[in-house]
Amino acid sequence: MRIIKGVEYELLTEAVQSSYKEETNGYVLTCEIGVHEGNGSQIMLEEGRKKFQNFHHLGIDPYGNIQAGVSNKVKWNTKKDLIDYLEFHLLEMADTEYMDKYRNGFIIYDEKPHLLNRYTCVHFDGPQRTTDVLREVMFFCHRAHLGTTFCFNDYKRYKMDIIVNLCSVYGFRVLNKGRRRYSLIKEHGATG
Ligand SMILES: C[S@@+](CC[C@H](N)C(=O)[O-])C[C@H]1O[C@@H](n2cnc3c(N)ncnc32)[C@H](O)[C@@H]1O
Repeated sequence: MRIIKGVEYELLTEAVQSSYKEETNGYVLTCEIGVHEGNGSQIMLEEGRKKFQNFHHLGIDPYGNIQAGVSNKVKWNTKKDLIDYLEFHLLEMADTEYMDKYRNGFIIYDEKPHLLNRYTCVHFDGPQRTTDVLREVMFFCHRAHLGTTFCFNDYKRYKMDIIVNLCSVYGFRVLNKGRRRYSLIKEHGATG
């Protein structure tokens, strides 16, 4: 098992630590878009395990030729590295496919099926165009709750001001802002 420290992962750690769910509904769900070698997901899994019960984490990555041309070897190593985390569910697909297929939620079988449709912390680390991030943010804003945190990597590559403004309409405020990462927390309901 390895935990690799990279640039500003402390903001991601803080995003999980600061998130909360008043009504647990029997589960807590976190998500990372863009898993690659699994560093961000491992941090979310470690922090989520410490903080929550009935916790599940989804990692979404097509590991295809989208943008980076990521090889099957990366995917294979990531699966091996994270195999001991039973809370981890790797979904090998693009963000758009995920949002289409799982718009009603993700089902976990624990003797009986449980529909997980509210996200407590989301790490946005996949595609880096403003339009792509906006589409993802709209999806997750509609499936957030009081205490949900969002963490954005490489935010200077897209128009983060538009994203912050959009999220503020859904009740999010700035949690932290670093050189590479930017985090938000939902503190009240949607306005206007
Ligand atoms: C910067 S890496 C992620 C790094 C990882 N989060 C970490 O903390 O180490 C970006 C990843 O996004 C993935 N990706 C690219 N386009 C995507 C899309 N449309 N949906 C989901 N993932 C995507 C790539 O395959 C790549 O593995």
